[in-house]
Amino acid sequence: MRTRTPRIATAAALAAVLTLSLTACGQEARGGSRYRADDGTTGTIGLAMPTKSSERWIADGKNMAEQFRRAGYRPDLQYGDDKVENQVAQLENMIAKGHRLLVVAAIDGSALTDVLERAHDAGIPVISYDRLIMGTENVDYYASFDNERVGELEATYIVGRLGLKRNKDTFNIELFAGSPDDNNTKYFWNGAMKVLKPYISAGRLVVRSKQTGLNQATTLRWDGGTAQKRMDDLISKNYGDARVDAVLSPYDGISIGIISALKSAGYGSGDQPLPVVTGQDAELASVKSIIRGEQTQTVFKDTRKLAAQAVQMGDAVLTGKKPEVNNTKDYNNGKKTVPSYLLDPVSIDKSNTQLLVNEGYFTAGQLT
Ligand code: GAL
Repeated sequence: MRTRTPRIATAAALAAVLTLSLTACGQEARGGSRYRADDGTTGTIGLAMPTKSSERWIADGKNMAEQFRRAGYRPDLQYGDDKVENQVAQLENMIAKGHRLLVVAAIDGSALTDVLERAHDAGIPVISYDRLIMGTENVDYYASFDNERVGELEATYIVGRLGLKRNKDTFNIELFAGSPDDNNTKYFWNGAMKVLKPYISAGRLVVRSKQTGLNQATTLRWDGGTAQKRMDDLISKNYGDARVDAVLSPYDGISIGIISALKSAGYGSGDQPLPVVTGQDAELASVKSIIRGEQTQTVFKDTRKLAAQAVQMGDAVLTGKKPEVNNTKDYNNGKKTVPSYLLDPVSIDKSNTQLLVNEGYFTAGQLT
């Protein structure tokens, strides 16, 4: 099995020596660890993000570009429009241009093996951003949030809102999961099911559709329209005379689709309140929906902090330092356990949306 870290460390150490000696001679070091390109930067960083259709990824890209720029690098930010072939082509291009580092939020976590082999051959390190890249040794570090905790926060919220610990009532719930090609999906699902399963087994939470398997609940590419169709279907086939009390949703875009389906079926008007609907990402439209009393909860993952981690890792890798990590056991991609830095997600509902303003994530004006 090949290991990358020593190679990087050796390359970085070599580069550091090279930089020092060339600097001493008053020259520029090219290909070294701290060389200055003609434009005064220390080299270009490839940022491969999945889609612009979600506000969070726009923020992730923007935050990383800004922070890499501040650290003296030149960012090359590309979006794959949720098409695997676009992302592969973008990465190929970045490798061909000799970018010094790739930071990748994969569209399909298992589809990058070949292109990352080429990055490896070119000596370009790779940071997996938010979503773990699967099935390859050619990923050096992973920056994300505690993904299982995200699912736990959503499910614990449902348990609390329905009062399952206080009452003896029975409630109907439907379950949604993320994209089947995103490794995060199973972490969110497992975290949530750890909390919900005991109540489902005890009959306190009833899934009338009986769709309790992850493979029945996934939503390809996290698409809100797909979720809306599935929710329409679940309601029409299973809720003729019954009411949906809660919906586990793993992402704000999916929650919006679910809420549209519920509203078309008459929820949210008259004596038919909307069920508890969770979410993730604290996207502006969903935070506003929470304030309006439609979506009930979301999970805030500060994209500025995630970007800062990726920049910290990238800069360390490129300057021969050891990136800071806080998890070296949980994220195995099938080929290696990827050293990771995991940030803490925070549950948000109507009672604490102000936190997003206090943290400077949104302005008070944006939330009105
Ligand atoms: C996941 C990510 C979530 C959400 C989702 C859809 O990989 O962890 O926070 O953004 O993609 O974009």
